[in-house]
Amino acid sequence: MPSTRRISARVAAIAESATLAVDAKAKALKAAGEPVIGFGAGEPDFPTPAPIVEAAIEAARTPRFHKYTPAAGLPELREAVALKTKRDSAYDVTASQVLITNGGKHAVYNAFTTLLDPGDEVLLPAPYWTTYPEPIRLAGGVPVVLPTDESTGFRVTVDQLEAALTPQTKVLLFVSPSNPTGAVYPRDEVEVIGRWAAEKGVWVLTDEIYEHLTYGDHSFTSMASVVPELADRCIVVNGVAKTYAMTGWRVGWMIGPTDVVKAAANLQSHATSNVANVSQAAALAAVSGDLSAVAEMRAAFERRGRTMYSMLSGVQGVTLLEPQGAFYAFPNLTSHLGRTIRGRKVETTLDLCAVLLDEGKVAIVPGEAFDAPGYARLSFALGDDDLGEGCQRIGDLLSEG
Ligand SMILES: Cc1ncc(COP(=O)(O)O)c(C=O)c1O
Repeated sequence: MPSTRRISARVAAIAESATLAVDAKAKALKAAGEPVIGFGAGEPDFPTPAPIVEAAIEAARTPRFHKYTPAAGLPELREAVALKTKRDSAYDVTASQVLITNGGKHAVYNAFTTLLDPGDEVLLPAPYWTTYPEPIRLAGGVPVVLPTDESTGFRVTVDQLEAALTPQTKVLLFVSPSNPTGAVYPRDEVEVIGRWAAEKGVWVLTDEIYEHLTYGDHSFTSMASVVPELADRCIVVNGVAKTYAMTGWRVGWMIGPTDVVKAAANLQSHATSNVANVSQAAALAAVSGDLSAVAEMRAAFERRGRTMYSMLSGVQGVTLLEPQGAFYAFPNLTSHLGRTIRGRKVETTLDLCAVLLDEGKVAIVPGEAFDAPGYARLSFALGDDDLGEGCQRIGDLLSEG
């Protein structure tokens, strides 16, 4: 008998992206004429800087780019990413260690598919970006969730890692600055965690996509640069999306030991082949240009993050850490659970976010999306006026009753 199953069990088990779902609902309400303010999207509100767009237009006119190019990426872009990694992360790599992917998300997918065998465990500090567990499970791997909260600044400790280590542990997922918490690990903690992984023979997938977005005294540290002995078991994930306001262009990369990158390129050659050449040309202009546009956007995010922090921390029963990096605030809303707001019983942050959307016309992402019920994520990558108005609405609604 042929199988009656229409969707494979593996794919049927994939959770819907809660962040995209919130964004889609907010956009649909907006399109229907509702004055919704969306704090859901994880993308800069700025347009891509003009010189990058010009490079893409030029590429679109160049017949060489109308053809297939090497699956692992344009050689000049792989080279430029290697140089940029040395410039920004003090991490010395060659072009052959760089695989150009369809966004950072695809790099995460390629990396886990390439590294994991069924039963391999991945240490996954929570709250975590909703995408991480899915490619781990698809590859047959097992996410081992390590909860963190504001008492440690949402940073995992070596004691937690040590307690979770088993003979099946293969990879540690590390992300700083963090989506969703906005936490940034100080250099000494990055070093201690990297040393631990190197000593134990655990691979590290370090997601560095928010490297340029740090605020106040906080600064980014690339794990492989401070723990060189990790290099043979380290995968760096990065991309142009957040740094250069290029989320729609879909260019990211993974950097790793040459054998892993070669294997991942082989995988990619059968899945997507090369990333669109026009996008690669734009990414080349981005990573080989100066960082002046990035500095301007970073300054705007820093200002908005401060405004959001001061407005939300003034709301009764809301506590949060000041965002240190990325563009997210991650307030603790547990004191509002169990309340009735506008006649609706609020038991969970899922309920609370639904009330905020329906009654306050404000879209925020419930912590359940990041394995952190009780919290919510608000992006501050939106214009100052909307940001102020949206925070005001949240404050007004939560202060009722
Ligand atoms: C932590 C983290 N890593 C990777 C990505 C992937 O970005 P993209 O696929 O747009 O390059 C995102 C996007 O939201 C992210 O927040």
